[in-house]
Amino acid sequence: MARVESTTHSFRAGHAAKSGFDVRSAEPDDAAAMLDCAREVFRTSPYLLTSPDEFTLTEEQEREFIAGMLSHPRQLLLVAVSGERVVGILDLRQTIPRRKARHRVLLGMSVREAYRGAGVGTALMERALGWAKAHPDLALVTLEVYAENVRAVALYRRFGFVEKGTLPGGLIHDDGSAWDQVEMFLRV
Ligand SMILES: CC(C)(COP(=O)(O)OP(=O)(O)OC[C@H]1O[C@@H](n2cnc3c(N)ncnc32)[C@H](O)[C@@H]1OP(=O)(O)O)[C@@H](O)C(=O)NCCC(=O)NCCS
Repeated sequence: MARVESTTHSFRAGHAAKSGFDVRSAEPDDAAAMLDCAREVFRTSPYLLTSPDEFTLTEEQEREFIAGMLSHPRQLLLVAVSGERVVGILDLRQTIPRRKARHRVLLGMSVREAYRGAGVGTALMERALGWAKAHPDLALVTLEVYAENVRAVALYRRFGFVEKGTLPGGLIHDDGSAWDQVEMFLRV
């Protein structure tokens, strides 16, 4: 069972939102609010692999996904919640289901457009890396990011992630333009 307790955080000074936000493990009842957040992020950010029309998960499937993440001992799914809204999501997933890779998790994260630059990503990252560092089996967090996503790359570097290499043309947009994909890792 992989679950972290809720912690409360303030938005960075100057952000329009008045109240703070909580960071905690996602629960099955968050399914609808998480889908709403994910759909918005896929619509508003060019930096994610999934195109909006490719994201077709139903609420029931999302519930099952959340329950599966909770029951997995080496995976973590976090939400940042402000009021009733999920404003950010972070997941650590074991994408290679083999014993030899059981020390590795792949990190993915996204924050709603109106809440970016307010410290939500930093809070999610602190909680996730704290959990990973304390985990007896985990030793390596990896991620993939597009070179053009300078804010995300800066955030990952600030947490100590190191660039492992670049895959030129790792992503091709519908208009034919290509972006390079950077692979980064952190030992925990
Ligand atoms: C990348 C992302 C997850 C970072 O989350 P975030 O909540 O914006 O992160 P933070 O607010 O903690 O800030 C991270 C840094 O980026 C800067 N930043 C991020 N978004 C910003 C914005 N819209 N305007 C100004 N600065 C911004 C912050 O100032 C901060 O830098 P600093 O700590 O040196 O001041 C978020 O911007 C996002 O979801 N982007 C779209 C999806 C995406 O790119 N996901 C990652 C795919 S690999």
